[in-house]
Amino acid sequence: MARRRQIIPWRAAGTRAEMRRNADEVVQDTGWVFNNVTGSALTLEQFVATGNAEVDVYLNRFGWSEMPPSMSILEIGSGIGRMTAALTRQFHSVFASDVDAAFLERCRETVSRFGDVTALRTVHIADGSSVHLEDNSVDLVFSYITLQHCKASDALRLTSEATRVAKPGGWIALNYRTYVPADAVLLPAGALMRVLWNVPVVGPKLSQWRWSTRLGWQANRLNPRRVLNLLETSRVEFDELVILHHPGRPASQATFMGEPVRQRDLDVANKSHWWLLARCR
Ligand SMILES: C[S@@+](CC[C@H](N)C(=O)[O-])C[C@H]1O[C@@H](n2cnc3c(N)ncnc32)[C@H](O)[C@@H]1O
Repeated sequence: MARRRQIIPWRAAGTRAEMRRNADEVVQDTGWVFNNVTGSALTLEQFVATGNAEVDVYLNRFGWSEMPPSMSILEIGSGIGRMTAALTRQFHSVFASDVDAAFLERCRETVSRFGDVTALRTVHIADGSSVHLEDNSVDLVFSYITLQHCKASDALRLTSEATRVAKPGGWIALNYRTYVPADAVLLPAGALMRVLWNVPVVGPKLSQWRWSTRLGWQANRLNPRRVLNLLETSRVEFDELVILHHPGRPASQATFMGEPVRQRDLDVANKSHWWLLARCR
């Protein structure tokens, strides 16, 4: 784990979350790491409301709103449960997973208050890339604004893990960040910031500040071609495969098993984001 500098700000926020007296304080202090909203009067309820709205939108856009409630779903990178609460109201079994154990504890608290805690199981991704669930064990896998924050190799491994744990006929929806022109500056500045996070005395402070965290936590850029190459090499098979991206973004030239991949506009997508939406065979 020593070389995984990109995990530092999550651990720092997790430790702070552990030390707060109540969940509203957690949201006021560290909630911005999840939804970029700051304020000294924020409440957990307001925080969860942002997740409820996003879950509604994404389930709708993926065609998942009408999935049977008996289904199970794995959320990779649940944080403190901003979206998990809504997922537990929608699905019978929700596996919330995250690299930070303190976040998972807070996630349980969030779900107890705003979701259905009987539906929740937490899964600690202790090494940043292994999901301790059996092969072919969940119906749906969902990950939002998480895979861009991992080392590229961890994001790719988590992608493989998603396809491993999804049942045949199950769906995955994974969100990635790809290149934009500003990355010519942002990527080197972010890499420098991650080095500074390891410097004694100043590093621990820097890893908690919003501006430095936002700069350094963009740990990778993965384009569709790179992710699909990995899946091709691992001989994963899909019955359906589509790339979703911002309407203003040119279609990617990605292919899978020699065939062009279907592309669809996603009105709510960030310009630099794309989603892999696939049904496993
Ligand atoms: C921006 S937050 C998003 C959380 C949640 N999806 C949401 O929208 O509120 C990113 C989350 O990814 C988690 N994370 C970062 N690297 C990870 C890794 N390698 N494996 C699992 N989770 C990771 C962080 O701890 C954090 O909770």
